[in-house]
Amino acid sequence: MTRVLITSALPYINGIKHLGNLVGSMLPADVYARYQRQRGREVLCLCATDEHGTPAELAALEAGQSVEDYCAEQHEIQKEIGAKFGLSWDHWGRSSNPPNHELTQHFADKLAENGFIEEKTIAQVYSIDDGRFLPDRYIIGTCPHCGYDRARGDQCENCTRVLDPTDLVEPRSAVSGSSNLEVRESKHLYLKQSALVDELRAWIDSKKDWPPLVSSIAYKWLDEGLQDRGITRDLKWGIPVSHDGKWPGFEDKVFYVWFDAPIEYIACGKEWSDAAPAGETRDWKSWWYGEAADDVRYVQFMGKDNVPFHTVGFPATLIGSREPWKRVDVIKGFNYLNYYGGKYSTSQKRGVFMDQALDILPADYWRYYLMANAPEGSDVSFTWDHFATVVNKDLADVLGNFVNRILKFARSRFDGKVPEGGVPGDNEAELEKEVAVRLKAYTEFLEELQFRKAFGELRAIWAAGNEYLTKAAPWAVFKEDKDKAAVGVRTGINLIRLFALLSAPVIPATSDRLRKALGIDTEPLAWPSDDIAAELSVLKPGTPFEVPDVMFRKIEDDDVAAWIERFGGEPEQEREPAT
Ligand code: MF3
Ligand code: ZN
Repeated sequence: MTRVLITSALPYINGIKHLGNLVGSMLPADVYARYQRQRGREVLCLCATDEHGTPAELAALEAGQSVEDYCAEQHEIQKEIGAKFGLSWDHWGRSSNPPNHELTQHFADKLAENGFIEEKTIAQVYSIDDGRFLPDRYIIGTCPHCGYDRARGDQCENCTRVLDPTDLVEPRSAVSGSSNLEVRESKHLYLKQSALVDELRAWIDSKKDWPPLVSSIAYKWLDEGLQDRGITRDLKWGIPVSHDGKWPGFEDKVFYVWFDAPIEYIACGKEWSDAAPAGETRDWKSWWYGEAADDVRYVQFMGKDNVPFHTVGFPATLIGSREPWKRVDVIKGFNYLNYYGGKYSTSQKRGVFMDQALDILPADYWRYYLMANAPEGSDVSFTWDHFATVVNKDLADVLGNFVNRILKFARSRFDGKVPEGGVPGDNEAELEKEVAVRLKAYTEFLEELQFRKAFGELRAIWAAGNEYLTKAAPWAVFKEDKDKAAVGVRTGINLIRLFALLSAPVIPATSDRLRKALGIDTEPLAWPSDDIAAELSVLKPGTPFEVPDVMFRKIEDDDVAAWIERFGGEPEQEREPAT
C-alpha cells in the first residue's frame, strides 16, 4: 500500500489567517488528506505555525508581549480555529520547537561539511536606539523618486520603485521611529545554491507531472541564474546559528526564517512521533528518510508566492545535505484569492479572516465555496454576491433541499423507515449510469488535485439525484402505485448515503449529519465502489432514519448587504501619501 505524506505551507504566526491563505494551502491539504484516508490509504498530514523572523518579533512588540508568549498564544489560537474549520492535521507543530532546532542546525552542519556554505561580511543598517540590525523593509524614509515619506527600504509602495535602504532620504527605524542609524558590518552564512543548479535542474526536469504554474516558476528561477542565499540574520528570536561549539562568532545570529521553516515539515513529523500516545509507535523517519520512505508519495500544498522556496530553496538544502531525505513528489500551487479584485492582506486587515468567516456561517459553507472556486487556473475574486449565489444554489437548493424533501416525504408516507416493495426500472438504470461516469471523473480529478473540476463533478452528482427524483416523482405516483413510489424513496435515501460519502472530504460536518440521520456507522469512512446499483441498495427496507434540520440556510439579500457593509465591497483605494 502506498503511504501519502501531505504538508500544507506553514502559516505565519502573526495573526489569524484570511480565506486566501486557507484556500491556498491548508484547506486543500485537508480535503486531499480526508479523501486519501477514505480510500483506505495511510496518510500523514502535517502543518505547523511558522514562528520566526522579524514579522513575528514586531507583532509581539505591537501586542505588548514577549515573542515567546506571543507565539505560544497565537499557535493555540490558530490551532483552535483550524479545528473549527475541520482541518484534520495528524499533527499541528511549531517551527520553534526543539526538533526543528536540532534539524535546522543539522542541515547547516551537513551543508557546510559538503562545501555548500560560505561566510560573507556585509554592510547593514544598525539602529542604535533599538539595539538591533534592521532588515531593509524595517527602514523607512522619503522616496528619492516621488517624495513619498513612508517608503520602505526595499521598495516604495507609492511609486513601486525598488530601493536600497541607503537610497532613502532621512531614513528612520520602522520599529521605534529613531533616526539614530548607522551602517555596520556583519558576518553571514550563505548557501551556495549556484553550486547545486545542475542537480536542481535535473530533479525538476524529472517532474513531468507538475502543474504548469509550479514548473514555470521553478524554471524561471533557474533560468534567471540562482543567487547564493543568505541563511542567517542578526536577530534574537530564531534558531541559533552557533551550537555545540560550531560557528563561533555567530552567537548573536539566528537562521533565516525561510531556511528553518520548510525544515519544520520534517521536524513536525518528529513532533508527531514524539507525541504518540502510550502503546502506539510512530516512526517519523520511515516517512522521510532513505529506502524506508520509498513507498511514500509526498504532496505539498501552497500559494504561488511560496513555490520558489519549495522548488529551489528547500530542495537545495536537502540535496546539499547529501543525505537521502525524501523530496516532494507533487507540488500543488495555487493562484491568489482576491477580495473584490484587491489583495487579501493580513497586515492591512483586508478581506475575510477565518474567525470572522466562522462568526457568519459554519465551516462547510466556506469549505465548499472555496474548494469549488479554488484559484487554480488564475487568480479568483471573492465577492459576497458570488458566495451567496453558490451557497444558495449548490448547497441549499441542490444538496440541502434534496435531503429534506425526500426524508420528509418518507417520514410522512413510509413511517420513518426505508420503504420496501417495487423493483428498480429505467429511471434507476439511467441514474446509475450517470453517477458511475461522474464518480469515476470525480475520483480521477481528486487524484490529480484538480479541485474545481472535482467539485464540479460532485455538484453534478447531486444534480443527477435531483433530476432522478423529479422523474421518479414518488409524491405524484404514491396514490396509484405505492411500489413505484417506494423504489423512488428507497433510491433517494440511498442517494443521500452516497452523497454523504462522496461529500465527506469537502464538507465533513455535513457528511456527519447525513450519516447520523441515516444511522450509518461513521468510522472508518469508506469510499463507494464503482458498482452504483449496489451502492444504491445498501440501506435496506426497514432501516429507520431521522429528518435533520435544514441542512443549509439560504443567504438573503439583507445578509449580503450587511456583510458588504461590514467588510467593504470595493477594493480599498490606494492610501494617499501622507503630506
Ligand atoms: N509562512 C510562509 C507563508 O505564509 C509559508 C512557509 S512554508 C514553509 O508564506 F514551510 F516553507 F515554511
Ligand atoms: Zn516613490
